[in-house]
Amino acid sequence: MVLKKILVIDDEENILESLKGVLEDEQFVVETTKSGSQGLLKIKKFQPDIVLLDIWMPEDDGLQVLEKIKRTLPEQIVIMMSGHGTVETAVKAIKLGAFDFIEKPIHFDKLLVMLEHAFEMKALKSENKILRDAIEEDEQLIGTSLPMVRLKQLVQITAPSNGWVVIQGENGTGKELIAKTLHRESPRAKERFVAVNCAAIPDELIESELFGHEKGSFTGAHERKIGKFELANGGTLFLDEVGDMGSKMQSKILRALEECVIQRVGGQDLIELDLRVVAATNKDLKREIKLGHFREDLFYRLNVIPITVPTLRERREDIPLLVEHFIKRFSPGKPFPMAKNALSVLQSYPWPGNIRELKNWVERACILSGGDVLNWSEIANFDPEPTAEEATGPEDKNLREAKAGFEKQFILKVLSENGGNISKTAQHIGIERSHLHKKIKAYGIDVSDQGGN
Ligand SMILES: Nc1ncnc2c1ncn2[C@@H]1O[C@H](COP(=O)(O)OP(=O)(O)OP(=O)(O)O)[C@@H](O)[C@H]1O
Ligand SMILES: [Mg+2]
Repeated sequence: MVLKKILVIDDEENILESLKGVLEDEQFVVETTKSGSQGLLKIKKFQPDIVLLDIWMPEDDGLQVLEKIKRTLPEQIVIMMSGHGTVETAVKAIKLGAFDFIEKPIHFDKLLVMLEHAFEMKALKSENKILRDAIEEDEQLIGTSLPMVRLKQLVQITAPSNGWVVIQGENGTGKELIAKTLHRESPRAKERFVAVNCAAIPDELIESELFGHEKGSFTGAHERKIGKFELANGGTLFLDEVGDMGSKMQSKILRALEECVIQRVGGQDLIELDLRVVAATNKDLKREIKLGHFREDLFYRLNVIPITVPTLRERREDIPLLVEHFIKRFSPGKPFPMAKNALSVLQSYPWPGNIRELKNWVERACILSGGDVLNWSEIANFDPEPTAEEATGPEDKNLREAKAGFEKQFILKVLSENGGNISKTAQHIGIERSHLHKKIKAYGIDVSDQGGN
């Protein structure tokens, strides 16, 4: 059992004794002291979870002691006690960072409830910190190769500016991670980072998803909904898969970004926008413009700072570092024997799915190693996933194409039967909506041609 430690600072001997008795009965470890100056020294040595601090002491002013504690240990939980409690002093104490305030004579049941709340908050705070550290650890851009060093430099220079960015790179190269890094290292870091998957919003929901809607503005609008643009206001709006959005969405987005104001569907108010926009795509947008798939004016609006992310094939020397990083994540605390042969296998593979594929592979290797110390000569025998091309011979390729052709026709047929409604089509076919979306995207199907609007 983890010991819960409480330090009581009060000049009255009888209070110290009675509190010590009651709190020890409740299994707390308790120390007491009669003055603020001694209390400050005791905090360093005893490291209490919670300090109970009297406000009125002949030698010290409890509020000043509280200030000193908070200056060196801002996280220390302090509960103030006072027999002459006025609302004013209580408010002052809370403003100085006290957790709570209890009046004397102390009602023990009340104190115990207060302590329970304080310990709950402490547990939540430390859990929060662990989670935040884990996220930060997980969101590091790993790599020391020249392309990676250049990329990190560019990210570092770009992040503090307000400049809009278009990130281009193959699947799984880390575009979203870069977008998050740009946000985290910008003056907007305390505001929201809101991602919009531009390829996944059906035409009929574009305005409501992006700009929100008022209650009752259309059938099914049971509540007011805040759209992604408004959610991101003051922060960063991440337009993901920007090269895959349909023409309707392109024009809506361009208009909002040019005018810098939006209106919720059915709303009267104009909402002014203060956004930093970061867009990402695996497509070559200039080529998409030539093909007539992407609006040139939108491209120039977004593309203030272009960032191109290298593929993993272009920076194979980063593979050992990445593998080590992912092993720490998936098998924390395990030693890391690095066998050269295993790494050379990993470094010679083309990694068409880039870092995401490598990450998944390491996770699988960690699981398959059965929780033992990772045996790298064994792992070298697990083939990384072969590419589709490698997995199938020439005849198989024809068969694959035939299957794909059939699948595309089938999806087109069911889509048109359901008026282009993706949810209904997914239900009819019996697959997840998101899965159907991927297929629609992969086959380049234009849903609006199938009756969707
Ligand atoms: N340099 C890196 N260091 C460590 N992890 C990375 C790095 N780049 C990417 N990753 C990890 O690889 C995975 C894929 O990255 P991310 O989702 O950012 O790629 P993406 O380019 O947006 O992919 P997609 O094109 O499929 O959307 C994530 O789990 C991410 O944390
Ligand atoms: Mg992505």
